[in-house]
Amino acid sequence: MFETLSTQPPDKIIELMKFYADDPREGKIDLGVGVYKNPEGVTPVMRAIKAAEKRLWEEQTTKAYVGLVGDPAFNDAMVELVLGDAVTRAQVASAATPGGTGAVRQAFELARMARPDLRVFVSDPTWPNHLSILRHLKIETVPYRYFDSATCTVDFEGMREDLAAARPGDIVLLHGCCHNPTGANLTLPQWGQVVALLAETSATPMIDIAYQGFGDGLEADAAPTRLVASSCPETLIAASCSKNFGVYRERTGALMAVAQDTDRVAALQDNLAYLNRQNYSFPPDHGARAVTMVLTDPRLRADWEAELEEMRTGMLRLREQLAAELRARSGSDRFGFIAEHRGMFSRLGATPEQVQRLRDDHGVYMVGDSRMNIAGLNERTVPQLAEAIVKAGV
Ligand code: LMR
Repeated sequence: MFETLSTQPPDKIIELMKFYADDPREGKIDLGVGVYKNPEGVTPVMRAIKAAEKRLWEEQTTKAYVGLVGDPAFNDAMVELVLGDAVTRAQVASAATPGGTGAVRQAFELARMARPDLRVFVSDPTWPNHLSILRHLKIETVPYRYFDSATCTVDFEGMREDLAAARPGDIVLLHGCCHNPTGANLTLPQWGQVVALLAETSATPMIDIAYQGFGDGLEADAAPTRLVASSCPETLIAASCSKNFGVYRERTGALMAVAQDTDRVAALQDNLAYLNRQNYSFPPDHGARAVTMVLTDPRLRADWEAELEEMRTGMLRLREQLAAELRARSGSDRFGFIAEHRGMFSRLGATPEQVQRLRDDHGVYMVGDSRMNIAGLNERTVPQLAEAIVKAGV
């Protein structure tokens, strides 16, 4: 039967990881996959997570199943982290998922169960796996303008015009903070205008928040999500712990469905449990339990917040250093946007040929659309990258 299967087109981000690993050159720079690295090039286990895992190892007496939507304490802690007091807990259905990607997948499936004919409005560009999952689920996508490649800033007028075409029953997928792949983000007043548009069109927002704490801080990064969730009748939220807790391979995330009308929440909660059962039964628990311990133990939480802040400010310094190096080397301000962008990524605005040249001639690995992972840099490699960018003719 398998003769009917052909090979799949490679995921560009995952493929790049292999290209980088196979490159024998010393001094190569990995700006590909969205994984945080410290100045030594290591993706560390965060201190608080390490402490929580140690305690878990000592205290955990069973690995028996927990529940179809995971540990209630994890869901409570995640709802608090992402939503604060923007809504009441009774307005939120929540389920643990295998990473943020698991939450994204379940959210699309939930929406399709509710509206089999739904369309999903996606920013142009968006995380490629959003499109891939939607294609796999045979859900129609409608791109909306988002990024102005000339200025490397948000094309807000274009975005507004395109989102005005949404209809009731459509989903509008938004990046809660730290837009992936561009690094260009809406201001809070612009988010207010998006909320007004959502009210006019009656489309349902879905927020993918995978980098809370990597942009302007934990609270500031959650502010748009909180604004949307407290303003719109219904909101879907896919939250990831991969980056801000550094628990990538533990697959830790949460899907939240927020409804102003609390009467809807029981059915939503039931459907989240149903979807988990159909797709993988019980969600992974180890990462979720460590995250819960960190969020609920004041000492661990303070240490986690401090380390996350070190990571965030480190990335900001690298952004500023890179913008300054490029200003000096190019004699122009045209790379100033790198210091304005937030999160792990910036889209450089290089052509595919320039990206290839950066790889072939300079050992610099970035995604083909010229997305750079800023955390792949350190003080020493920033000048090397700036030199390569200018030499590649960007
Ligand atoms: C990325 O965009 O590089 C990360 O979200 C990792 C991934 O799974 O693609």
